[in-house]
Amino acid sequence: MIKDLFIKKTLAELEIQADSKHNTLKRHLGALNLTLLGVGCVIGAGIFVLTGTAAALHAGPAIALSFIISAFGCLLAGLCYAEFASMIPVSGSAYTYGYATMGEFVAWIIGWDLILEYLFGSATVAVGWSGYVTSFLADFGLTLPSAMCQSPFIFDSAGWHLSGAIINFPAIFIVALMTTLLVIGIKESAKFNNIIVLVKVTVILLFIGFGIAHIHVANWTPFIPANTGEWGHFGASGVLTGAAVVFFAYIGFDAVSTTSQEAINPKRDVPIGILASLLICTILYIGVSLVLTGIVSYKDLNVPAPIAVAINTAGPSLMWLRPIIKIGAIAGLSSVVLVLLLGQSRVFFSMASDGLLWKSFAKTHSRFKTPHITTIVTGSFAAFFAGLFPIGLLGELVSIGTLLAFVIVCVGIIILRKAEPDAIRGFRTPWVPLVPVLGALVCFFIMSSLPLDTWIRLFSWMAIGFVIYFTYGIKHSHARQNRKNNKQ
Ligand code: ALA
Repeated sequence: MIKDLFIKKTLAELEIQADSKHNTLKRHLGALNLTLLGVGCVIGAGIFVLTGTAAALHAGPAIALSFIISAFGCLLAGLCYAEFASMIPVSGSAYTYGYATMGEFVAWIIGWDLILEYLFGSATVAVGWSGYVTSFLADFGLTLPSAMCQSPFIFDSAGWHLSGAIINFPAIFIVALMTTLLVIGIKESAKFNNIIVLVKVTVILLFIGFGIAHIHVANWTPFIPANTGEWGHFGASGVLTGAAVVFFAYIGFDAVSTTSQEAINPKRDVPIGILASLLICTILYIGVSLVLTGIVSYKDLNVPAPIAVAINTAGPSLMWLRPIIKIGAIAGLSSVVLVLLLGQSRVFFSMASDGLLWKSFAKTHSRFKTPHITTIVTGSFAAFFAGLFPIGLLGELVSIGTLLAFVIVCVGIIILRKAEPDAIRGFRTPWVPLVPVLGALVCFFIMSSLPLDTWIRLFSWMAIGFVIYFTYGIKHSHARQNRKNNKQ
């Protein structure tokens, strides 16, 4: 029945799911840990790799403005996430929020879509990690065989072809390592993440602090280079396209909301974690992009390691920073892989707890209290994609998937205010409906600047999801079974 597709979980049902009797996960995370998880997941390939390309091809020095625009879209969505998180303290993030507001079918769509963000995201960043590690080892004369460090496939305007490589082994290695850590425990994973965040934030601050002295103001003029006549190539449209490209750099702050069932005080601390991590990363990103384009002409930044180019340009006095930046990037990317895998396994856990995926995905390990089966399944798929596929193809899918989730969460807040006007909220999104409407529009606008191929892949992915929902989920959904039992 069509009506059953929109069956909802009530806030009361979600509260029961979150209470200690039913929660099989361990509550270990406070506000600081949650903020650091957000930062751990956000700062990665985006800032260390994409900033240069986006400045060189689209925005010039105004890439800093692109970062501000992208942050604005994320902030609007983040404010909506924060209200949901303060009302629904259950892991599963946007999937769970969708279940409470728009019903099971939309929740399924979001859950399936989040796989693009978290699972494919972790694979993408693992490929970036592999690139940094091989180049770092090469600096010390240790050259890994390239057949073992690259995707066997290349995808470009001519379509698919073989690269001659066999497998991207380092990418598989980092996914396997992070998966093992996640199985061992949430506390251990959070501790590892905290150390890594400290390393990468320090490295970024070192770059900003020592880089400032090497800025040539002439590199910032013109700040917004004139448009070349083509949409997206400099000028105002270039700044907007740059915002879409660097959006990837912000992905991950929402992963904080997947850990609600492991937060000590989720209603207060998850909103803090989401918004604080977004704020910290925005400030760091603006700093890096200004220093980067101040040291080097944006024209020279279309490279895989732009920060290294800036250090070379600055001259011998900054050379000591070169290996440190690489260590920061390697460490930084590994925590992104960690938290994205964490987010994915918690979304699967929630979907399975609701009966929409196989029961074993909702099992927790008797000693470690982590959802070990779903973590291992997530890690295996991520390793498969990371080992075989090129980074560009994966990255765009990750952005479109995340943006779709953001749009749905923004719309969800408007529905929630109508459906549950009196429910207690630890955090209220300001200026509703302005903020969510604007959030949905900005995110949709960024989606619209992604290539048509990416849209086609999104729809194909959704079609696979529909097959699974209509052949498995619909038959095993707990919400449907409860409704049936209540009717009898
Ligand atoms: N925001 C994450 C990164 O840039 C996904 O690596």
